[in-house]
Amino acid sequence: MNIAVLGGAGYIASHTIVELDKAGHSVVAVDNLVNSCEESLRRVSKIIGKEVPFVRADVRDAVAMESLFKQNKFDACIHFAGLKAVGESVEKPLEYYENNMNATFVLLNAMRNNGVKNIIFSSSATVYGNPAEIPITENCPKGAITNPYGQTKSMLEQVLMDLQKSDPEWNVVLLRYFNPIGAHPSGLIGEDPNGIPNNLMPYISQTAVGIRKELGVFGNDYDTPDGTGVRDYIHVCDLAAGHVSALKAIERNCGLAIYNLGTGHGYSVLDVVNAFERVNGVKVPYSIKPRRAGDIATCYCNPEKAYKELGWKAQFGIEEMCRDAWNWQKNNPKGYRG
Ligand code: NAD
Ligand code: WQD
Repeated sequence: MNIAVLGGAGYIASHTIVELDKAGHSVVAVDNLVNSCEESLRRVSKIIGKEVPFVRADVRDAVAMESLFKQNKFDACIHFAGLKAVGESVEKPLEYYENNMNATFVLLNAMRNNGVKNIIFSSSATVYGNPAEIPITENCPKGAITNPYGQTKSMLEQVLMDLQKSDPEWNVVLLRYFNPIGAHPSGLIGEDPNGIPNNLMPYISQTAVGIRKELGVFGNDYDTPDGTGVRDYIHVCDLAAGHVSALKAIERNCGLAIYNLGTGHGYSVLDVVNAFERVNGVKVPYSIKPRRAGDIATCYCNPEKAYKELGWKAQFGIEEMCRDAWNWQKNNPKGYRG
């Protein structure tokens, strides 16, 4: 298929382009580079041995999107474009609602105008709020969401569901990612956060490389085996492969389909720290800090549906996630700018 990858220079999209290429698909990457840089796509080109066609554009720019769809014959879109920092979204709600909602409205209009009715949307486990059941299945009701970022994901899921209901020619796949970490095993592409990382793994790897003094562990009094938060970490390459599998659902005219993409295993913060130290032979100094507002104790999924319907399941374990995160970090201590 020929795929438009919106937000194509970002962390998950860059890894997905590698997997799409491996599976024989062609892509055009579109990004305004608000949270990424073109270097990621140059690195992807190195991995796949060919140029990645790139259009620098804001997805909210209706004129740019119209001309993108006029100039290319796309079979489907994978929509990664959005702002994603939970804490920042609380401080800048308008910017988050405006960017994430409007980008999607403009994209969907351009798709409809040009007869492209297949979309894979980057959703998040955040839509489950404090989940009503563990492990989380796709039937678990959505929960109370405490931040504007998560609200945009939940609201956009609803927009896409309503659109699909109104016109059954649409195929809409909502992928609810759990906690993507790690990097391509080549060490050429990986996660390159701006400033102080919000997420656990980049904080661990920046601490191990000496950029940060110590990791703060946010709470050790949760109702979990060691008191620290438990999450379903998934290797970004597995997550990327999940998008290729999701295209199969589109090929079968799935209508609306929702999948959890996780491994089904829960690891605590200290499990991850210990695995990182063991696998990589490095120290990660840490100290216990107060709980972070909005955090929940435990979140991991039941990934069976994706396996049954798409034949997808995660191949990599926590060791590979830690190994590849470190390989990326130590080869690129300053990320793409280094
Ligand atoms: P990322 O920030 O690396 O990638 C998002 C990309 O979208 C960036 O390259 C950014 O420049 C681009 N972008 C943002 N707004 C844009 C706009 N208006 N026009 C054009 N480009 C725009 O983030 P990521 O971690 O790769 O996440 C990709 C998607 O997956 C996001 O939608 C995110 O919300 C979602 N998601 C991420 C996680 C996670 O933990 N990383 C978990 C669940 C869901
Ligand atoms: C994981 C665990 C923290 C940093 C977030 C978003 C979610 C999704 C994925 C986009 C928690 C602990 C973290 C640190 C720590 N993103 N931690 N010290 O919060 O599960 O999910 O990213 O959709 O929407 O909320 O991921 O990596 O921030 O935290 O102790 O410096 O690590 O408390 O238990 P989270 P995370």
